[in-house]
Formats: sequence, structure tokens, C-alpha cells
Amino acid sequence: MTRVILLPHPETCPEGLALEIKPGKVLCDALLAGGVEIEHACDGVSACSTCHVIVREGFASLSPAEDEEEDQLDKAWGLTPVSRLSCQIRVGTTPLTIELPRYSLNHAREHE
Ligand code: FES
Repeated sequence: MTRVILLPHPETCPEGLALEIKPGKVLCDALLAGGVEIEHACDGVSACSTCHVIVREGFASLSPAEDEEEDQLDKAWGLTPVSRLSCQIRVGTTPLTIELPRYSLNHAREHE
């Protein structure tokens, strides 16, 4: 099992969270299974950017993003050089530290 740490997020997980995830699992699915209410508007087909996560540790261990993911990420709120779409990455054997962006694109629109 691989340790995935979620940094505190005011709405989704105010205390932060540590999950043990089986290598090979899609991160978005694993977070949902762990009770984290991450948005996933397109159900994991790389057609939205609501499942955006910032990989604070372990980023280099992930397989590189495909073009489709890069295209969607360009639209994500709060994009960083270590941003990924959580439905497009699989947890490996390297521990990850994940930050959920303050807003998803849907939220950002609501707050404009
Ligand atoms: Fe839409 Fe991940 S759920 S891109």
C-alpha cells in the first residue's frame, strides 16, 4: 500500500487526511473511496478539470500527462507546474502529498 497524504482543504477535508492506497489505483477513484468528495464532473474521461490536484510530493514518480490531460489542465483554476488531473494518474509505490486547489473551475465561476 502507498501512503497518500491530503493537505487540509477548508471544505473537502479541513483536518487533512492520510490514506493507504493500493498501487495501480486511479487517484480520483481512490480519494472518492476514501471519503474525499473530490469533484469529477466528467466521470474520469479527461473532459473537464474539476478533479485537478496539486502534487506537492511525489510528482516526478507519476507517469507523464497525455495531451488530452494537458489540454484540460490548461483550463484548471490555480494551475501549477505540479498540477495533474486525479482521474488520469495512478498511484504507484512512491508516497504522494496532494493538495486540493481552493476552487474547481465550477466553484471559481460561482465566486466570480
Ligand atoms: Fe473530468 Fe477528471 S473527472 S477530467
